[in-house]
Amino acid sequence: MEIRSGVGRYPALVNTGLLDEVGMYARKHLPGETCAIISDKSVARLYAEEVDESLVSAGLRPTLITIPAGEKSKTLKQAGAICDQMIEAGLDRQSFVIGLGGGMIGDISGFVAAIYHRGIPHLQIPTTLLAMVDSSIGGKTGVDARDGKNLIGAFHQPSLVIDDLDVLTTLPRRQFNQGFAEIIKHAVIADSKMFRIMQSWKAGAAPALQGLIKRNIQIKSRIVAKDERDRTGERALLNFGHTVGHAIERAGNYRKFLHGEAVSLGIVTACAISIKRAGLPEDQGAAIVDLLARLGLPTRLPRNFLRTKILDAIKFDKKFESGRILFVVTPRIGAAYVENNVTLDDIREAVQRL
Ligand SMILES: NC(=O)c1ccc[n+]([C@@H]2O[C@H](COP(=O)([O-])OP(=O)(O)OC[C@H]3O[C@@H](n4cnc5c(N)ncnc54)[C@H](O)[C@@H]3O)[C@@H](O)[C@H]2O)c1
Ligand SMILES: [Zn+2]
Repeated sequence: MEIRSGVGRYPALVNTGLLDEVGMYARKHLPGETCAIISDKSVARLYAEEVDESLVSAGLRPTLITIPAGEKSKTLKQAGAICDQMIEAGLDRQSFVIGLGGGMIGDISGFVAAIYHRGIPHLQIPTTLLAMVDSSIGGKTGVDARDGKNLIGAFHQPSLVIDDLDVLTTLPRRQFNQGFAEIIKHAVIADSKMFRIMQSWKAGAAPALQGLIKRNIQIKSRIVAKDERDRTGERALLNFGHTVGHAIERAGNYRKFLHGEAVSLGIVTACAISIKRAGLPEDQGAAIVDLLARLGLPTRLPRNFLRTKILDAIKFDKKFESGRILFVVTPRIGAAYVENNVTLDDIREAVQRL
């Protein structure tokens, strides 16, 4: 697929058996012969050798740099350490960076690519469903600050994205399922047809992932292309379910829920608020909640989870201004807009009922 971005176009490849061909595609689409493969230790154990061999046999000279798996590695300190290792390995302005891993690796490797020698090309090889349908597309890169996620970063579009569907077979079930939160989000804000197709899936049957991932890349990249730097409000639609979702992640100390699980709960509250403020028909709200549950995502908070912590976390959110918050609502499946009449009380009520 060709993806349009403000700085040009880049290809995204979605297929099986692509890891063996990374070298060939890197040669074709990227200048330079030296590169860093940045990965986390779990993903590297599974896939780094295959990628490395493919690069070497295409005449490229890769250096593998690994960091511990998990969000706690997504720091400025770790990004600095990666840069130091790249300098040590003799990588320069002609080199490029490969991010091999989930969204954590995509974000930090993209950030390193954005700052190393003031910017070198970035090749994304996402290995989670979430990273394939969401984080690898759109050029948002960065790391977490001490007091908040993704507060340090840069816009840096990838030069090439390679989604090898085979890697999803080793992804733990919970990690796989969380990708569906972003997929359902895309369907709700932009694609009622995809929503209906997912509704018709038989329980237990493996979905056709290639077409699904391609469609999601298309939806995300089209929205991003209209507002690459997140300034006009168009890109904000991708935050559907995320205002409350982020707050739930934070309230759970980033341990209790995976991002997609928190977003699923955030979508449930966004539906309740959309029914109240945007005229979303109740049966459509129920259909969204039902689809989330069928794809293995949580739609209720554990009874003992402190709702007040979620409200506190929302107040921390930078989008909160004088009692009002810019909140993405859906008036019907397949459409969304930013509503500025949603109050903290609306959110409180929806969170209480969660
Ligand atoms: N840049 C963006 O636009 C954007 C969008 C959404 C999310 N994000 C970021 O993405 C991150 C979350 O991404 P994630 O959920 O992919 O998390 P992740 O990268 O931490 O991966 C989750 C876990 O799965 C393991 N893993 C990855 N691929 C595997 C595979 N194929 N087989 C077995 N195990 C595998 C990893 O080692 C890790 O333990 C967050 O940091 C979030 O902020 C960024
Ligand atoms: Zn998300």
